[in-house]
Amino acid sequence: MGILLFSWIFFMPLCSSFFGMHVALVSGECLSDGRVCLEDEMLLLLQLKSTLKFNADASNKLVSWNQSADCCSWGGVTWDATGHVSLNLANNTFFSSEIPSGFDKLGNLTYLNLSKAGFSGQIPIEISRLTRLVTIDISSFNDLFGTPAPKLEQPNLRMLVQNLKELRELHLDGVDISAQGKEWCQALSSSVPNLRVLSLSRCFLSGPIDSSLVKLRSLSVVHLNYNNFTAPVPDFLANFSNLTSLSLSFCRLYGTFPENIFQVPALQILDLSNNHGPIPSSIANLTRLLYLDLSSNGFTGSIPSFRFLNLLNLDLHQNLLHGDLPLSLFSHPSLQKIQLNQNQFSGSIPLSVFDLRALRVLELSFNNVSGTLELSKFQELGNLTTLSLSHNKLSINVDKPFPNLPPYLFTLDLHSNLLRGRIPTPPQFSSYVDYSNNSFISSIPEDIGSYISYVIFFSLSKNNISGIIPESICNATNVQVLDLSDNALKLEVLNLGNNRIDDKFPCWLKNMSSLRVLVLRANRFHGPIGCPNSNSTWPMLQIILEFSELYYQDAVTVTSKGQEMELVKVLTLFTSIDFSSNKFEGQIPEEMGNFISLYVLNLSGNGFTGQIPSSMGQLRQLESLDLSRNHLSGKIPTELVSLTFLSVLDLSFNQLVGAIPSGNQFQTFSEASFQVNKGLCGQPLNVNCEEDTPPPTFDDRHSASRMEIKWEYIAPEIGFVTGLGIVIWPLVFCRRWRQCYYKRVDRILSRILHHQDQRASGGRRAHRIRRRRM
Ligand SMILES: *[C@@H]1O[C@H](CO)[C@@H](O)[C@H](O)[C@H]1NC(C)=O
Ligand SMILES: *[C@@H]1O[C@H](CO)[C@@H](O)[C@H](O)[C@H]1NC(C)=O
Ligand SMILES: *[C@@H]1O[C@H](CO)[C@@H](O)[C@H](O)[C@H]1NC(C)=O
Ligand SMILES: *[C@@H]1O[C@H](CO)[C@@H](O)[C@H](O)[C@H]1NC(C)=O
Ligand SMILES: *[C@@H]1O[C@H](CO)[C@@H](O)[C@H](O)[C@H]1NC(C)=O
Ligand SMILES: *[C@@H]1O[C@H](CO)[C@@H](O)[C@H](O)[C@H]1NC(C)=O
Ligand SMILES: *[C@@H]1O[C@H](CO)[C@@H](O)[C@H](O)[C@H]1NC(C)=O
Ligand SMILES: *[C@@H]1O[C@H](CO)[C@@H](O)[C@H](O)[C@H]1NC(C)=O
Ligand SMILES: *[C@@H]1O[C@H](CO)[C@@H](O)[C@H](O)[C@H]1NC(C)=O
Ligand SMILES: *[C@@H]1O[C@H](CO)[C@@H](O)[C@H](O)[C@H]1NC(C)=O
Ligand SMILES: *[C@@H]1O[C@H](CO)[C@@H](O)[C@H](O)[C@H]1NC(C)=O
Ligand SMILES: *[C@@H]1O[C@H](CO)[C@@H](O)[C@H](O)[C@H]1NC(C)=O
Repeated sequence: MGILLFSWIFFMPLCSSFFGMHVALVSGECLSDGRVCLEDEMLLLLQLKSTLKFNADASNKLVSWNQSADCCSWGGVTWDATGHVSLNLANNTFFSSEIPSGFDKLGNLTYLNLSKAGFSGQIPIEISRLTRLVTIDISSFNDLFGTPAPKLEQPNLRMLVQNLKELRELHLDGVDISAQGKEWCQALSSSVPNLRVLSLSRCFLSGPIDSSLVKLRSLSVVHLNYNNFTAPVPDFLANFSNLTSLSLSFCRLYGTFPENIFQVPALQILDLSNNHGPIPSSIANLTRLLYLDLSSNGFTGSIPSFRFLNLLNLDLHQNLLHGDLPLSLFSHPSLQKIQLNQNQFSGSIPLSVFDLRALRVLELSFNNVSGTLELSKFQELGNLTTLSLSHNKLSINVDKPFPNLPPYLFTLDLHSNLLRGRIPTPPQFSSYVDYSNNSFISSIPEDIGSYISYVIFFSLSKNNISGIIPESICNATNVQVLDLSDNALKLEVLNLGNNRIDDKFPCWLKNMSSLRVLVLRANRFHGPIGCPNSNSTWPMLQIILEFSELYYQDAVTVTSKGQEMELVKVLTLFTSIDFSSNKFEGQIPEEMGNFISLYVLNLSGNGFTGQIPSSMGQLRQLESLDLSRNHLSGKIPTELVSLTFLSVLDLSFNQLVGAIPSGNQFQTFSEASFQVNKGLCGQPLNVNCEEDTPPPTFDDRHSASRMEIKWEYIAPEIGFVTGLGIVIWPLVFCRRWRQCYYKRVDRILSRILHHQDQRASGGRRAHRIRRRRM
């Protein structure tokens, strides 16, 4: 497309051996910047390509190398003005193939980057012939993904670098070098005198770091993380006058940290995390430090007085530091991140923290920090995203529910403190809010839902919160963990309806100690309803019947006979089971007969088989019974005639046979109640029963014995698969929700309320759950 001036130079017979045909190569010049592609370099690259096994979909660089393509657009290839190339095949996917041996032909290569390319196996000796190399990067992350790391065995490190006199950057992170301290240090110090960047993290290097390394006087970046040196920190590291970045984390270094390292003026990044040693006071002289990570060490004592002019990140977490939070520390206006968590700091948070306007992260959790928390002052830190103060002794008396927290505070962790008063309204975009284990007392704000719409984790557990759980909590559509346990919350309605919960029956609910209404309509529950290790098939429903206190009046809309009706006082006065339009199978459990306060029973539209249990005759409160559209067979039990409150009955679309029982109001039901069955006869159907089977009449005197007999037929469990259903169960609440059922809760709650608003588009009236104090 006009970028190249093509000039046909050579006809290379050699090419045909690579490509099986005669090709002509072009050498060209990129018009835009005057770079040229030398024809023989192109050839060599094409030859190299032919030796590489790569996945054309993943290796988007190599696919662009071909003789007809614009050489300046070859992915990963940079041509300089003299036509020489730098090669970057990093982050291409070579599915654990070995590094090919053709690289030595690219004798003028100065930059070779094969990092994160998925290579494994021995690094070929040919690379050691690239004597002009200035930068080589073969870092690998293979071991993190389970594929074997590349290794330097034969050749070893010494052989690899011995001719690379020009080398300034050596990146071999993740390459298995497996060398002793003297060996690898001397290999480098004798071969690559100009080295500036030495990055050998995760290389299986042993210690101690040999002093011969000091010959590499230009070293500016030294990253040796995750090696097992098991040695003291060598103090000659301070002899690298140009050292700007030193990372020695997870190196099993021990002893006293050499103070003179802190006198290297250029040092900007110091990562000594996960080693052992006290913090020397001379660290304070590192005035140019930008980033200091001394985390996860055994550092003891107090922090020396700092004066880091430009410090951005300070990470001292997980040490044994104590003493008051140092005022000097909190007076670095450049600070963006302070992590002092998991120490033993005491005292109060210096007020100067509110002057750190660039602060994004403040982590002080797991300390002994006390004093009054001025929560609303954090508003001044407009960039704050993480405020973690848990496990301290902070007190506060929140009298305002709106402390005006910074809007982008995503993580607010105040748990396990001495906070009292009203629950602070979470910041607008928060995703993690933990107020647990404090002494908050108020009720949950009515409009909490509008503040936690992005929240993934929200815990109020272990407080003294009372009152109701407001309906607006249903607007927390992203919540995965909602923990309200161990409070004085009285009544709860948990509406899981209209979701895609795909799980086994939530047996964990049986331990809930205040949840009394549960709506599971329109989900994908499957498996048997019974809970293992339980004596009862219906443990929760038995709990209902025991529950007789009534504090609240609830109204719940359920589906009955195709119409939604609002059930008032759903708890003990009024109970309803709606399993309709699921795929329940098996027989209707005889235990149904135990729900003597049931007003509405709707099992329609399922796959129930077997007979209608005669125990249903015990449901003397039943006003509505819908068993239509199942595969129920046998006769209609005469016991149903004793349901004198029954005003709605639907047994249509089943396999029922025999005479419709007569008595009480049974004949007042319309023909529709019995239509489309296998062989029903008698009133109200216009089918006469045969002479010898007169319509059975209900006889109270025999009902008990008949029920006993019929119970033998009934299986204790029913299975169900997908679809719709409402279960409304007064239950008892979950004191140990978190400990015992965390995983299940996590999984189930991850989808709670997620598709809440499908119901609005469903065209039917929503399941409204309302609650009013009586
Ligand atoms: C050469 O590369 C160009 C651009 O990537 C591509 O469109 C073309 O199909 C390739 N030709 C061959 C023969 O692979
Ligand atoms: C190698 O390439 C990767 C990916 O492009 C890059 O992140 C890395 O910094 C490069 N290494 C060097 C030494 O330039
Ligand atoms: C590495 O490749 C992945 C996927 O091909 C891409 O998303 C990512 O940005 C690449 N990284 C670099 C540093 O090139
Ligand atoms: C390296 O570059 C020089 C000139 O810059 C050239 O003469 C020589 O052939 C090149 N070597 C290779 C192997 O490309
Ligand atoms: C340190 O860096 C400076 C400036 O880049 C340079 O002039 C000097 O030669 C370097 N020192 C060593 C020992 O390489
Ligand atoms: C680290 O090296 C020491 C000394 O060589 C050895 O005793 C120890 O087992 C090593 N630890 C690991 C985790 O390899
Ligand atoms: C480091 O430099 C000091 C003087 O600044 C010198 O005494 C010491 O020998 C040097 N260390 C090594 C290992 O060369
Ligand atoms: C800090 O550096 C000054 C000289 O710049 C020196 O006198 C002082 O001893 C150093 N402080 C520490 C704690 O090393
Ligand atoms: C807050 O963050 C923005 C965006 O990163 C930045 O531009 C601004 O300078 C920061 N504010 C302060 C006080 O550092
Ligand atoms: C915690 O701080 C209090 C003062 O607020 C102090 O009396 C107590 O000794 C500290 N406890 C520890 C373990 O440091
Ligand atoms: C839930 O959110 C919607 C829209 O954001 C709002 O209209 C509705 O009032 C909220 N419901 C409650 C109970 O807060
Ligand atoms: C079943 O009930 C018996 C007697 O009430 C009791 O001893 C046993 O622990 C119960 N088993 C389970 C799993 O609840």
